[in-house]
Amino acid sequence: MSSEEWQEWVLETHSHHVELLEDWFFAQGALAVSLEDNADEPLLEPGPGETPVWQNVKVTALFTGDVDLEPIRAEIPDALLAKNSRSDITTLRDRAWERVWMDDFSPIQMGPRLWICPSWSEPPDASAINVYLDPGLAFGTGTHATTAMCLAALDDAVRGGERVVDYGCGSGILAIAALRLGASSALGVDNDPQALTASRDNAERNQIEASSLEILFPESPGIDAWVGGSDLVVANILAGPLLTLADELIALMTPGAKLLLTGILTEQAPELIERYATVNLQVSDTRDGWVLMSGQRAR
Ligand SMILES: C[S@@+](CC[C@H](N)C(=O)[O-])C[C@H]1O[C@@H](n2cnc3c(N)ncnc32)[C@H](O)[C@@H]1O
Repeated sequence: MSSEEWQEWVLETHSHHVELLEDWFFAQGALAVSLEDNADEPLLEPGPGETPVWQNVKVTALFTGDVDLEPIRAEIPDALLAKNSRSDITTLRDRAWERVWMDDFSPIQMGPRLWICPSWSEPPDASAINVYLDPGLAFGTGTHATTAMCLAALDDAVRGGERVVDYGCGSGILAIAALRLGASSALGVDNDPQALTASRDNAERNQIEASSLEILFPESPGIDAWVGGSDLVVANILAGPLLTLADELIALMTPGAKLLLTGILTEQAPELIERYATVNLQVSDTRDGWVLMSGQRAR
C-alpha cells in the first residue's frame, strides 16, 4: 500500500465509549476521526433494557496508507467496542480523502426555503435559510427520513412569530431550523444529556440568540411556562414514547396549535391516531417506511 493512499476504518461502538475510542484512534496515528449516529436503518421499537439505535455511534478514522492497521485492530481494547460491533477497514484509492470525507455530508435542501449544510461546505444557495450542522453524537443531521420529513413540514408551517417545542431534540436541528425559519422562540427537550450539549453547541454555531432557545430535560420545571402556549409541537421520537407522552405533548399546545409527530412506522400509525384523537392526528407524509403525522388542537 503506498503512502499516497488512505485507509478508512469504520467502527461501531456505544456512545459511552466514543470519547475513549476517539482518543485511542488518534494515539494510533489517525489523521481525523468523525462520528455519526448509527440510525440510518428503519428501527424497531427497542424493548425494555435494549439500547436505542441512536446510542450506537459509527466512528470513522482516517489513516495514511502506510500504517499497518491489522496488528492495531488485533489489539483494540474490548472495553472500546460494542457487542458484535462492525469494524471495517477500506483503502481509498485515487480519491482525495477530503472529498471522500465530505461526500457523505453534503448540503441537502429540505424544503423550498430550508437547507441543512455541513459547516465546511459552501451553501449552494446563499439566499436560502441555511442551517449549519455537522455529524456529532446526538441524532439529527437531516439524513434520516424522519428528520427530513419534519424539516420539510417546518418549512411549510413556520410563517413567523411561533413558539415551537422540539420534544426529543437530539442535535437540536428542528428547534434551530424553526427559529431560522422565523419562529420567535423555541424549547428543545431531551432526556439525554449529550443531546442537550449538542443542541446548545449547534445553536451557537447557527448564531441563535440564547434568549430565544431554551433547552431542558423533560422533568425541568421550566417546561411549565410552555404548557398551553406553544403554537407548534414537533416530536421525532418513537411510537412507544409518543404513546406515553401524548397527554404531555397535547397539554403544551395552545388552541389552534399544530402537532407534528414522527419516528413512527407505517403500521404503527393507527394506534397513534387513536391515542391522539383529540388533535385529529393524520398521516401527512411517508418516507422509507416511516410516517410523519400531523394534528391540530381545536380553536
Ligand atoms: C430520533 S431522535 C430525534 C432527534 C431530532 N429531533 C431529529 O428530528 O433528528 C430522538 C431523540 O429523542 C430523545 N428521547 C427519547 N425518549 C425521550 C423522552 N421520553 N423524553 C425526551 N426525549 C426523549 C432521544 O434522546 C433522542 O435524542
